Amino acid sequence: MKHAVVTGGAKGIGLGVVRELRREGWQCEILDADPAGQAVAEEVGVAFVRADVTHPDELRAAFAGLADRFGPIDGLVNSAGINRTGPSDQLPEADWRRVIDIDLSGTFYACQAAYPHMPPGSAIVNLASVLATRALPGRVAYSAAKSGVVGITRVLAVEWAARPIRVNAVGPSWTDTPLIRDQLAAGTLDLEVLDRVPMRRLAQVEDVVGAIVFLLGDKASFITGQTLYVDGGYTWAG
Ligand SMILES: NC(=O)c1ccc[n+]([C@@H]2O[C@H](COP(=O)([O-])OP(=O)(O)OC[C@H]3O[C@@H](n4cnc5c(N)ncnc54)[C@H](O)[C@@H]3O)[C@@H](O)[C@H]2O)c1
Repeated sequence: MKHAVVTGGAKGIGLGVVRELRREGWQCEILDADPAGQAVAEEVGVAFVRADVTHPDELRAAFAGLADRFGPIDGLVNSAGINRTGPSDQLPEADWRRVIDIDLSGTFYACQAAYPHMPPGSAIVNLASVLATRALPGRVAYSAAKSGVVGITRVLAVEWAARPIRVNAVGPSWTDTPLIRDQLAAGTLDLEVLDRVPMRRLAQVEDVVGAIVFLLGDKASFITGQTLYVDGGYTWAG
């Protein structure tokens, strides 16, 4: 049975990926910094490892441990991520660093830590965002991080094609997850952004998960280095 590790799999898009991969017959493990991931993993029937993607040592130990227990890692989905918003001239350095550390560096560290355990024919899918291609005021760190994720995806795809390991990204628009609900509750996001989404709605987790599972699987066997925007048309109209 193929198995995949999903960072940030305790919630939102990552959890949706875990559920869908299970339905498609994959074995999965959730890697998340939130200890609540343990109960979530038990409910879904998968293993849980607690690790923070900003700590490369923790990641190396976590991936080595998962490979020992479950065998070679056929799939990696990097869904761990956060956002911090605010006017760029006042954005605290700590907020800038936290977003870059988790969304950008964490994605790279997880790819690096998984690499020794990934066999020929395996695949990685990174979570980018439409904000890698479009500007929304107050999102400078997030835009920088997600643009960087697109860059990481391209370079690793070219370097790791020799094995081959395919490396792609999915860039969702605003998706109904705890991340977005928290921003709406805090007043840092206004649903007026949906006026610029031609399909005029939030993405649902299920809308995004299909693209991720497709890129992870054998039906995408010659696709690598790409970022697939799942955005109801936003990147062309936004
Ligand atoms: N929801 C959206 O609208 C949207 C849009 C575009 C891109 N994305 C991206 O998709 C990914 C998933 O987003 P989501 O909406 O599901 O978020 P979410 O907040 O619902 O879930 C994120 C998960 O990441 C985990 N996490 C956070 N920091 C971590 C760390 N340092 N180490 C390990 N795990 C950590 C959290 O515990 C949580 O389980 C993120 O990279 C996000 O930037 C989301």
